[in-house]
Amino acid sequence: MATEPKNKVSRRELLKGGIAGAVVAGVAVGGIAEYQILGIKPSSTTSTVTNTSTVTATTTATTTQTVTVNIPDVTAAIAATPTTVNVGDVVTFTATPGAGTSPYTFTIDCGDGTTLTANGTHAYSAGGKYVALLTVTDTKGKKGMATVAITVNAGTTAPVQVPVTSKVITLNVNGVSQTLSVPANWSLLETLRLKLNLFSVKEGCSLGECGACTVIVDGKAVNSCQILAIEAEGKKIVTLEGVSDYGNNLHALQTAFMTRQAAQCGYCAPGFIMSAKALLDANPKPAWADIQEAISGNLCTCGNYKKIMQAIGDVGGVS
Ligand code: FES
Ligand code: FES
Repeated sequence: MATEPKNKVSRRELLKGGIAGAVVAGVAVGGIAEYQILGIKPSSTTSTVTNTSTVTATTTATTTQTVTVNIPDVTAAIAATPTTVNVGDVVTFTATPGAGTSPYTFTIDCGDGTTLTANGTHAYSAGGKYVALLTVTDTKGKKGMATVAITVNAGTTAPVQVPVTSKVITLNVNGVSQTLSVPANWSLLETLRLKLNLFSVKEGCSLGECGACTVIVDGKAVNSCQILAIEAEGKKIVTLEGVSDYGNNLHALQTAFMTRQAAQCGYCAPGFIMSAKALLDANPKPAWADIQEAISGNLCTCGNYKKIMQAIGDVGGVS
């Protein structure tokens, strides 16, 4: 019996785990659908393991500048160096008086609330746009101004790799105890597929809503995407590969699925068969309502429910 009733999930999400090739309508033998029912991995299948989490961190910023001079009666210019700095770096301001109107007094307003009384240095502590304003006053009280437009970028984000702690566990899968090291945050689904190459276990929604990842744990149908591998230690886990002794002895449900053509694309078939097997192991003579409840957590986006029900009913002796 499934662990809980499930809701619908979009086809895009359901299929995001990916199946190679196209949908083969109605194919029961010799295609993708057959592979899904048998649960035998293709020899060419490979997998890639990525064991990282991503967080963001603020990096450096840059400053660029342009210089303008606009003095009607008193000439002066202001410049800032270097032209590229990081937040917190020191910017040097240089004020240059014009000819013929000295002596001057200088005031440099750095644009962020701080002021220099003459040439000097300043460090910007945050990103943003500033106008450093130089005010030049001559002995007669006339004023002139020069400005430097400064942009301090807020910075960009960059991924930082954070290692995930791994743990050595022993899993009993299809009757065999296997000791392996898995990241502590890996689901049983990820572990079965990526560590043990048991590709009958499908990833659909990873939200506990589609049932594509159904396996049997201690006799009950469980969405393997919803439990951690480390939580499954000490329990008896069965996948579709184990149901048929890795294709050597087909289970009656597998035969019935092929006979009834209950797998259209076949992506959902392993999950349905595992839910049905958990039911029939506990209740070999179910009623239609029992079958409906048992597979209520499994979705078939091909809409092949009638044939799926018939296949399970054949094995359960329901007509
Ligand atoms: S992948 Fe959909 S329920 Fe697990
Ligand atoms: S046969 Fe395609 S999703 Fe069920």
